[in-house]
Amino acid sequence: MGSIRPRRLRSSDAMRRLVRETELSVNDLVYPLFAVHGSGVREEIPSMPGCFQMSVDELVKEAAEVQGLGIPAILLFGLPATKDEIGSEAYAPEGIVQQAVKAIKAAVKDLLVITDVCLCEYTSHGHCGIVREGQVVNDQTLRLLAQTAVSHAQAGADIVAPSDMMDGRVAAIRQALDDAGFTNTPIMSYAAKYASSFYGPFREAAESAPQFGDRRTYQMDPANAREAIKEVMLDIEEGADIVMVKPALAYMDIIRQVKDSTDVPVAAYNVSGEYSMVKAAVGNGWIDERSVVMEILTSIKRAGADIILTYHAKDAAKWLMEPTQPVSSSEGPAP
Ligand code: PBG
Repeated sequence: MGSIRPRRLRSSDAMRRLVRETELSVNDLVYPLFAVHGSGVREEIPSMPGCFQMSVDELVKEAAEVQGLGIPAILLFGLPATKDEIGSEAYAPEGIVQQAVKAIKAAVKDLLVITDVCLCEYTSHGHCGIVREGQVVNDQTLRLLAQTAVSHAQAGADIVAPSDMMDGRVAAIRQALDDAGFTNTPIMSYAAKYASSFYGPFREAAESAPQFGDRRTYQMDPANAREAIKEVMLDIEEGADIVMVKPALAYMDIIRQVKDSTDVPVAAYNVSGEYSMVKAAVGNGWIDERSVVMEILTSIKRAGADIILTYHAKDAAKWLMEPTQPVSSSEGPAP
């Protein structure tokens, strides 16, 4: 037995707190929300227990609660009244997201409103870009994405977050924002976004499943890591202020590589399927929600994320406010 005994530094809760490397903070969290038309609407999403589609009036209350918990930002998605081939409501001045941003910014101080910039919730075919002859076309889509981002900024969005994975969208959006006078609006780019099956519950929540084919001609192949660095570097060159890796849990290696090869803040999206899996297991009594969620979020941060977008944000914020968990001195986290 050698003289180096790592267990010495694990001997009590105080000792473990003293040497802890990664500390999750409420300041790291972003809470995603889904806006729908109407009033008094608060409709739970079946595959995402605890998450709701909400009308603007309900969203304002929700945003106030989120702000009260100390969470610095929300991420807004919208469900339009009608969908068409060119996703018109994505960039309509009175579209659902534009209305929600205006109402929230007017009512809730000190809460950042980030908007998801994409067409898939707004197009009848459910793709993230314009479709011509069965193909999702890149360059014709850029103009609409840029128009969407500008309309969000005009409504008062603090940060715009393009999630479509078209080539050149960050440059197009930066140029359009600057031309419209929004030189100070940051872009959080979904830079390394994979064609993932973990988005399943979200597509139910946002009613955005593609009506034909899949997203593999624009979102990344899950087998590729070096390509993620290429995507991230391109987005930074084009003007991205924050880069995101998505999903998070199956892509921890990507989060770490992106962190090590950049000097901008790195975000990670703990996506709907990751949330639903936890909720399903919790619902069956198979895992302890609090300790599993805190382990997941701490691990995403340890992997290199500075910002974590997560449907667990409100719960995590509450848990972070409570005094240190009751932990016995010699064992791991209480079940
Ligand atoms: C829109 C978009 C998606 C998500 C965020 N923005 C779905 C998709 O690309 O199909 C997924 C979020 C989640 O699963 O929680 N392009």
